[in-house]
Amino acid sequence: MTFSRRDFVKNSVLGAVAAGVGAGATSNAHAENSAPGHASPGDAPKPTIICAHNGFAYVEGAYASLKSGADTLDVGIQVVKGPEDDPNDDSVGLGGLPNEEGVVELDACCMHGPTRRAGAVGAVRNIVNVSMVSKAVFQHTGHVMLVGEGAERFAVAVGFPRQNLLTDRSRKIWLLWKEFNSDRDWWGPGIADPSWHPPVEEPKPQAEVWRERIEHLRQRAADLGIEPDFQTAAVRRVLLPPTGTIHCSVLNEKAEMSGITTTSGLAFKLPGRVGDSPIIGAGCYTDQDVGSAGATGSGEENIKVAGAHTIVENMRHGMSPKDAGIDALKRIVRNYNGDMTRLRYMDMSYYVLRKDGAYAGVSLWEGYSAGHPHTFVVHDGTLRREVATPLLKGFSQEWPPFPTIPEELKKNSEYLK
Ligand code: GLY
Repeated sequence: MTFSRRDFVKNSVLGAVAAGVGAGATSNAHAENSAPGHASPGDAPKPTIICAHNGFAYVEGAYASLKSGADTLDVGIQVVKGPEDDPNDDSVGLGGLPNEEGVVELDACCMHGPTRRAGAVGAVRNIVNVSMVSKAVFQHTGHVMLVGEGAERFAVAVGFPRQNLLTDRSRKIWLLWKEFNSDRDWWGPGIADPSWHPPVEEPKPQAEVWRERIEHLRQRAADLGIEPDFQTAAVRRVLLPPTGTIHCSVLNEKAEMSGITTTSGLAFKLPGRVGDSPIIGAGCYTDQDVGSAGATGSGEENIKVAGAHTIVENMRHGMSPKDAGIDALKRIVRNYNGDMTRLRYMDMSYYVLRKDGAYAGVSLWEGYSAGHPHTFVVHDGTLRREVATPLLKGFSQEWPPFPTIPEELKKNSEYLK
């Protein structure tokens, strides 16, 4: 006798109903609605979009779609597809910073509140819109997560084109990183090159060593053809490999919610590494009864506190969006017993949206450097950037000390942070 997947699904549903699980869920949902922090039945919340700073340019258009009745997940995808398609956003999609072998690998996941479905893909090569592929996983399969080569073949099977994701700029930044980390192999200028210098120099004060290293790296960036107004940013990416990402949570006036997160992950990671972004419950979590949350930042740390799920559960138990997010950040601090020497090398931002339209953006640190606070984007009828509420005073990754970026260069580049 064969037992098909359809039989399994049918029997599971019937079993659950017979055991009264469905009825329990309904009465729980009703109780949730009267708990603090939940919209009363009948209240129509303000349609709201919340996302990471790099979604700003795409939110106005997405909000128009939301107002005309588009599905909340499709609205979220409309936002995150912008940075995915943008070759100059090197944290997501096309032009994302590659792994240590110079290959771009993308991660994404999504949750569709109204139908309580979820999809995820990890370590996908050669496909730019992995946000859409994560949705396709639940549309076209009975699975939740596909990774690597299987995920790429699936994407092609459902109609996504293969393309090279490594832009010339990202390749040059990778090459700069490769050369910088290379005083024991054959990458980088050879001994006959005029710019070669011995790896071990006489003892000097740390600050001076770093000033020289940064200057040397900037010179190599120029030699590699990285454009002048991006050289400092490229050096920063080499010394402090970023984990940029975009998350977006969406609420409509029927109180339907969805969330989506997409990334190229930690720059120069080991091939096959996946961070928090494609992990349901870490990079993104949406519960139609409560709210939605997502994350950008140090993926390894966020996985260990199941950040997005923790936040939604905190709200379920009555915490405000801000307190729910700050609590998840405190769990990261707890994992290091509050050791600031370690914590300064990580950062985390959460984007939180409750079912009644209340929202918050919170971050572990104030930003990466003075004058660049963490911000998030919100649209609930008015599009704006807001400064995230930090848990810790000060800035992550403020070492090594970078020289001040001249104002005229700052004006020219969105990505100097
Ligand atoms: N948060 C993105 C990553 O760590 O991959």
